[in-house]
Amino acid sequence: MKTILITGSASGLGEALAKQYAKNGWSVCIADIQQDAGEKRAAELSQTHGTDCFFHALDVTNDEQWQAIYNAVTARWQGLDAIINNAGVASSGDIDDLPLKDFQWTVDVNLMGVVKGCYYFTPMLKKKGGYMVNVASMAGLLHMPSMSAYNASKAAVVALSETLCAELDSYNIKVSVLCPAFFQTNLTKNMRATHSGGIKIANRLMEKSSISAADVAAKVYQDSLAGKFHILTHVRENMLWRLKRFLPSLYMSQIKKIGKKFNTKMTQE
Ligand SMILES: NC(=O)c1ccc[n+]([C@@H]2O[C@H](COP(=O)([O-])OP(=O)(O)OC[C@H]3O[C@@H](n4cnc5c(N)ncnc54)[C@H](O)[C@@H]3O)[C@@H](O)[C@H]2O)c1
Repeated sequence: MKTILITGSASGLGEALAKQYAKNGWSVCIADIQQDAGEKRAAELSQTHGTDCFFHALDVTNDEQWQAIYNAVTARWQGLDAIINNAGVASSGDIDDLPLKDFQWTVDVNLMGVVKGCYYFTPMLKKKGGYMVNVASMAGLLHMPSMSAYNASKAAVVALSETLCAELDSYNIKVSVLCPAFFQTNLTKNMRATHSGGIKIANRLMEKSSISAADVAAKVYQDSLAGKFHILTHVRENMLWRLKRFLPSLYMSQIKKIGKKFNTKMTQE
């Protein structure tokens, strides 16, 4: 029996990931702050796929809850084959406008939530090797204006993952970082934004996306098991990332133009 813990798996990408792994015979621990939805997902997966799926309450910012879920996984499965640190939140606003408490909230969930998942479960993975996937974003590689908290938290997840990829390789732990652009989920429902325009633009980009959470989950499953480090799902944004690395001045001039356009759009919304 293969076992996986997925944070933030009561909704959106986490939910799609839980389905993807369960349908391939994995037992899944659904860890989320949403108790009812999480319990429902776990029951559905166990019934449909016949694997041992269960819900455990987890706020990824809370150390005691990490310790409790570690104990629960140890008691139930005596070990773990994979962890996906997926739970995340979104925020937008100019640097002098987004309240510092919202900046902190973004970093606490998106960065420290991932750090804690790695900290608490690496010793378990070290025992027999396994897989770790940290969910960043294309925002961790390309940093659009008026999203400093989200961008900084996701860039730090990329740096953390790159560090762990080398650090844990000799323990046979394959570390991957997922960097998708927009796809439809519930991410904007709890988004903290200084301007409603930011949420409207994010919703539009999600609606327009031709890539679904299920598509992203399928790619994660394939690439993580193949031991790929960067998991990239969106072709156009991948090209932009290449442009940034190979022609940095051209990229910066383009990003400044996007910044100007974005400011005008935000005020028109
Ligand atoms: N949707 C996109 O366009 C997109 C693009 C790039 C990256 N991502 C990333 O994908 C990940 C999943 O987000 P999503 O888009 O599926 O959004 P979502 O809101 O549908 O799902 C996020 C899940 O995380 C849970 N969560 C939030 N705070 C938590 C906490 N403190 N502790 C535990 N669980 C918590 C929520 O309850 C929810 O179930 C996030 O890390 C997000 O940044 C999303």
